[in-house]
Amino acid sequence: MTTTLVNHQIRLAARPVGLPTRANWRFTSEPLPELVDGDVLVQTLYLSLDPAMRGWMNEGRSYIPPVGIDEVMRAGGIGRVVASRNPDFAVGEHVSAGLGVQEYALIHAAELKRSGLFKIDLAAGTPTQWLNVLGMPGMTGYFGLMDVGQPKAGETVVVSGAAGAVGQTVGQLAKIVGCRVVGIAGGTAKCSWVVEELGFDACIDYKAGPVRDGLKQHCPNGVDIYFDNVGGEILDTVLTRINRKARIVICGAISQYNNTTPVKGPANYLSLLVNRARMEGMVVFDYADRYPQAIAELAGYLRTGRMKSKEMVVSGLDTFPETLLKLFNGENFGKLVLKVAD
Ligand SMILES: NC(=O)c1ccc[n+]([C@@H]2O[C@H](COP(=O)([O-])OP(=O)(O)OC[C@H]3O[C@@H](n4cnc5c(N)ncnc54)[C@H](OP(=O)(O)O)[C@@H]3O)[C@@H](O)[C@H]2O)c1
Repeated sequence: MTTTLVNHQIRLAARPVGLPTRANWRFTSEPLPELVDGDVLVQTLYLSLDPAMRGWMNEGRSYIPPVGIDEVMRAGGIGRVVASRNPDFAVGEHVSAGLGVQEYALIHAAELKRSGLFKIDLAAGTPTQWLNVLGMPGMTGYFGLMDVGQPKAGETVVVSGAAGAVGQTVGQLAKIVGCRVVGIAGGTAKCSWVVEELGFDACIDYKAGPVRDGLKQHCPNGVDIYFDNVGGEILDTVLTRINRKARIVICGAISQYNNTTPVKGPANYLSLLVNRARMEGMVVFDYADRYPQAIAELAGYLRTGRMKSKEMVVSGLDTFPETLLKLFNGENFGKLVLKVAD
C-alpha cells in the first residue's frame, strides 16, 4: 500500500544568514518504502512551527545537533497512523512525534524513542492544542515557570512574548498560582487579548512606547520573576526593575535569532549582583519524564475553563518558508501551526 504513496518534503538546502528565504529550502518528493516489522507510518496533519527552528538551521554546538544540509527539516507534529507493523500503534490512532516538515513520517522501531512518538487523547485537547498548551510550548511554560521561576502567590511575574505559545501558558499559570502578571507584547490586539481574555493584570505594548515606563506603571512593587522569551533590549530594561532574590528565566531570545552581528547581551547584569538575583536558562527536553504530570494538570485547566489556548493555523506544506517568518515579524497571534492535511 505504502509504495503507492509519494511523500513531499522540505529539506534544508543552505544555512541562512539573517532571516531565512526560499533559497534556504529544497522541495523534494519520493515514494515511501514498504514497511518492515516494527515500523509505524504517520501521516502529518499539523506541524509545530517554532522559533527554535531558526537555531537548528545554524551550524555549531547547541542543546541539540543542527539539521544537516539536505536533511528533512526537523519539526514536531500531530499525525494519524496510516500503516503499522508495530503492535503498539494501530491504524487510525492520533499521535505526536518529531515528524519533520513532510507529509509522511516513517518511524522505524529503533527510532521510536528519539522521535518522541506517543498517542494523544483527543478528549483532552484538539490536535492544535496538543502542539500548544498540551505540547512542547506548554511544557516549556510550565517547567520554566514552576521549576525555574518558582512563583509564590502575591509576587509579580513579567513575561515577554506574552501572546505567543509559551507566553500564554506562563501568564495564565502564574495567575492560577496567585501572582500579579504583566505581559509584554507587540500591538494593541495582542495586549488587549492577554488582559481581557487571559486575565493578565496588564500588558505593555513594546511597540507603542518605552518598556521602562510600562514597568514603572504596572509593576509598582518591582519584578520578582521575569520569564524571558525575547532577550535583547527588553531583557536589559526589565533587569533595571527586579526585586531582591528575583528569578530571570532565560527561555529564549527571539529578538537575537536572525542577527548578523553578535548577540546583544544584557548590559545591566550587575542588577543580579545588587539584588542577589538569579538568571537561569532552561531547555524543555530536560523535563520529558515529567511531561505526563504537567499535561494532566494543564488539560484539567483547559477542561474547567481556567486556561485558554489560542493557535493560529496556516494551511499548506508549501507555505512553510513564508509561514515560519511570521514568528519573527510578530504576525503569528498564538501558537503558530502549519496544517498539512485534514
Ligand atoms: N528553552 C526552551 O526549551 C524553549 C522551548 C520553546 C520555546 N522557547 C523559546 O520561547 C520563545 C517563545 O517561543 P514561542 O514558540 O512561544 O513563540 P511565539 O511567542 O508564539 O512567537 C514568537 C513571538 O515573538 C515575538 N517577537 C518576534 N521578534 C521579536 C523581537 N525582535 N522583539 C520582541 N518580540 C519579538 C513576536 O510577538 P510580538 O508580536 O509580541 O512581538 C512573535 O509572535 C522563543 O524565544 C523560543 O525560542 C524555548
